[in-house]
Amino acid sequence: MANLAVLGGESLLKEPVKSLAWPIRTEETAEKLKQLYMSGEWSFNSPMEQRFEQEFAASHNAKYGIFMANGTVTLECALQALGVKAGDEVIIPALTWMATAMVVHYLSAIPVIVDVEPTTLCMDPAKMEAAITPKTKAIIPVHIYGSTADLGKILSIAEKHGIPVLEDCAQMQGGSWNGKGVGSWGAVGSFSFQQSKVTASGEGGICITNDSELAEKLFLIKHIGYVRGAKQGQGAKTPQGLVCHNYRATAFQALLLSEQLKSLPERIQRYGESARIMTEAIAGVPGVRVQASGRLADPQGYYSFHFIFDGREFDGIDRWTINEACLAEGAGIGNGTHGSVYRHNLFNLSPDQYRIFEGSCPVSDKISCERALGIEHQRMYYRETAEQIGAVVRKVASNVDELRQYAESKNK
Ligand SMILES: Cc1ncc(COP(=O)(O)O)c(C=O)c1O
Repeated sequence: MANLAVLGGESLLKEPVKSLAWPIRTEETAEKLKQLYMSGEWSFNSPMEQRFEQEFAASHNAKYGIFMANGTVTLECALQALGVKAGDEVIIPALTWMATAMVVHYLSAIPVIVDVEPTTLCMDPAKMEAAITPKTKAIIPVHIYGSTADLGKILSIAEKHGIPVLEDCAQMQGGSWNGKGVGSWGAVGSFSFQQSKVTASGEGGICITNDSELAEKLFLIKHIGYVRGAKQGQGAKTPQGLVCHNYRATAFQALLLSEQLKSLPERIQRYGESARIMTEAIAGVPGVRVQASGRLADPQGYYSFHFIFDGREFDGIDRWTINEACLAEGAGIGNGTHGSVYRHNLFNLSPDQYRIFEGSCPVSDKISCERALGIEHQRMYYRETAEQIGAVVRKVASNVDELRQYAESKNK
């Protein structure tokens, strides 16, 4: 009789695992939304937007917040504010969502893609330094899934070369590095509030910064050139040559986010506890490990949590086969995984529009595209779910011979 459910054995879990209902909805917030609706103060740098900008920036130890339509235009505006122009180069990691590369392209600049570290899956600082050329005008480390990029090394290399750092924190809300919020270390930090993110308003994004000049510039760029406080149709003349957009978000989104921000520290703490439980569950099982959290990250934010099946034990076993076996035990782990940016279906840049440092990113290609499987933050909310998922992965990974047998039977 087989152990693994995928081969007819008894499945480990008898009922679906619990997950935090997403997005978060409460009657209290619904009531506040109604009041906001009746107030008519819906947009154009309204009091609610200003309040949220301050709350979010302060919660990440930054002075200024500039609220925008999504976490793609935040990156675009930040690069613009940092002075990136056509033909410049911007260094980004191989493992990220498409937006990080596309925003560089929007400015007719060249994304230079460097490999990630096998442990954290974030940008490899040594490769990043080697990729710097006289044309490099910005560096975008991405805090990916459940790990913070090595800000210590990245910032000191960037400073040595006089290049500004834009932290892409779309996946790292609420995380701290060395006692200070992510996003407040680089010149600008960019966050996304798209529906799946840890605080979410359907769409939305914010830039945070401690630099008052950058804050003012970011505001002009996102608000079609109006200075803060200007009334519609009034205000100072927009600086000549500054390309500005309407990338505003609304007060409704700000309200949703402000409400959710209240529970963020508690959720971050729960995610951290679940990460510890799942890490311990697979300890000692050959061939499988987890994404290492950022070196000085405490607390660590989690958009998702990833298991990495890159030991020789799993050679020849496709990751989706591993996921099938987990699903048969009662909980799949195949969510929230991107793979290398240039391998994404939607990545449509032609070869002259980007550069891959050293021609390839083998770590990202192998680990992120072939060996990593993850769960999303909603399933990290309950301790019990973390214990169950940890047990599922432990069972599947401990029965690797049966798993191989199943993989081979599928290929026949
Ligand atoms: C790393 C990263 N950067 C940028 C973005 C873009 O954010 P948005 O979807 O809000 O435009 C995302 C969103 O998924 C992301 O994960």
